Amino acid sequence: MRTDDAILGVTHRRLQSPGRMNYRHSFHAGNFADAFKHAILLALLDALTAKDKPLCYFDTHAGRGSYHLDDTEAQKTGEWRDGIGRLLDGHDPPPLRRYVDAIGACNPDGALRVYPGSPLLAAQALRTNDRLVLCETQDDEAATLRALFRDDARAHVHARDGYAAMNALLPPSERRGLVLIDPPFEAQEGEFTAFETALTQAHARWPNGAYAVWYPIKSHRVIAPFHRHLAAGPFDKVLVAELLVQPDDSPLRLNGCGMLIANPPWKIDAALATMLPALRNGLAQSPAAAHRLHWLRGE
Ligand SMILES: C[S@@+](CC[C@H](N)C(=O)[O-])C[C@H]1O[C@@H](n2cnc3c(N)ncnc32)[C@H](O)[C@@H]1O
Repeated sequence: MRTDDAILGVTHRRLQSPGRMNYRHSFHAGNFADAFKHAILLALLDALTAKDKPLCYFDTHAGRGSYHLDDTEAQKTGEWRDGIGRLLDGHDPPPLRRYVDAIGACNPDGALRVYPGSPLLAAQALRTNDRLVLCETQDDEAATLRALFRDDARAHVHARDGYAAMNALLPPSERRGLVLIDPPFEAQEGEFTAFETALTQAHARWPNGAYAVWYPIKSHRVIAPFHRHLAAGPFDKVLVAELLVQPDDSPLRLNGCGMLIANPPWKIDAALATMLPALRNGLAQSPAAAHRLHWLRGE
């Protein structure tokens, strides 16, 4: 998702059978929502890897891991132009520059052709003794992901439902790490209920894990019950970062997105406080563009 179309439930339909997944991230790779999500992901992983102990990165909705911006899908929407495309030449503060440099590392000849997904960005940020668990339900996406990590013994690709995998595989043996939950929102508002269930069950299994949950913003009315739920527990500390590229006065388009972070690493709020204004300035599509960083619980 992440385009207006997808949020409205009219994702780019290449597979029309009922019950089949229609979402393809290749249409949206590198868009403003990816830039927001991936810049925060790297800040989280950098904070977690500041300690020596090994960790586990758990990606519940991993996608194919890497995207070619000259592919038909990415060319068709051109969404990356209003995402990473707007950040390449900026003079950004260090936390955002870190993300732009990570994208640059995937394009060593200087031309932006490859956009890394969350698994590849995480793999680059992690150390030799860390581990990645990557879940993806679509067979062809999972096969591509598996091929990408064929030579990386740290990575374990599971062609299965990411929420079920959380129940089956958490806590990780490392007892330290981050779960990224980044679904396509084909269930639309129902996805927030899935988040609540997944986070409650995960807390029971692994209360000390860090969890980052991406969500779209059409209107805050839809998100408020999810925030209220997390404000009431079970995690002691919950931080929320949000970016609006347009005012949230139309339910018909993707106006922005947010990341809810349960058990955020120490001092991540300071890094995000520096990064978010730069993201807003770089990605604004309207003078009403805005950002918000606030604790739902704790601090
Ligand atoms: C937004 S994309 C993921 C993008 C990726 N996290 C990134 O940042 O590069 C969502 C992915 O989740 C996959 N998916 C959908 N439902 C899933 C499920 N229940 N479990 C695991 N993967 C799922 C979709 O096929 C799609 O590739």
